[in-house]
Amino acid sequence: MSHADDTQGTRRDFLYYATAGAGAVVTGAAVWPLVNQMNPSADVQALASIRVDVSPVDPGTQITVLWQGKPVFIRHRTGAEIAEAQSEDADTESMPDPLARNENLAIADAPATDANRTLPSPEGEGEGAWIVQMGVCTHLGCVPLGDSGDFGGWFCPCHGSHYDKSGRIRKGPAPRNLPIPVASFVDGSTIQLG
Ligand code: FES
Repeated sequence: MSHADDTQGTRRDFLYYATAGAGAVVTGAAVWPLVNQMNPSADVQALASIRVDVSPVDPGTQITVLWQGKPVFIRHRTGAEIAEAQSEDADTESMPDPLARNENLAIADAPATDANRTLPSPEGEGEGAWIVQMGVCTHLGCVPLGDSGDFGGWFCPCHGSHYDKSGRIRKGPAPRNLPIPVASFVDGSTIQLG
């Protein structure tokens, strides 16, 4: 099924192969095999950092890029998504994983507030608009689906883990929030991973 045939409304997950540049749209959302079975080639693993053009990523959609052999979710959130995620910040202490799990923060035990899990926005865009996460379920490594689950974030169908709009684990067997890799905007429309 091509992306144009995707009738699932707002879901717009693309796969961009890092080695082919940011323009190679390959597939729609799907249940991927366990990441451990993907066996990335050595040249892919060797890419310490990549740059991703996110200018085609409209608010309310996300892309999936392959980096160091693993999927990374880059989501452009709407104002409503940001507001919902922030409205649940008060509950972080009682969530299954109260920590931000964000490699960009200096403090290892920073709380899992939405602000601690989102990327600093480029100039001219409100904070919280972008969230970048490893697309690897913290249970046993499946790739969760976007725009899914009881909390409107990501859902891992392998054993039923539900992540919220900040990628925080809220229900199911996964023990930790989706990890946030080193990432930053290098200009108004380009995110560097690593
Ligand atoms: S691997 Fe995701 S719930 Fe088990």
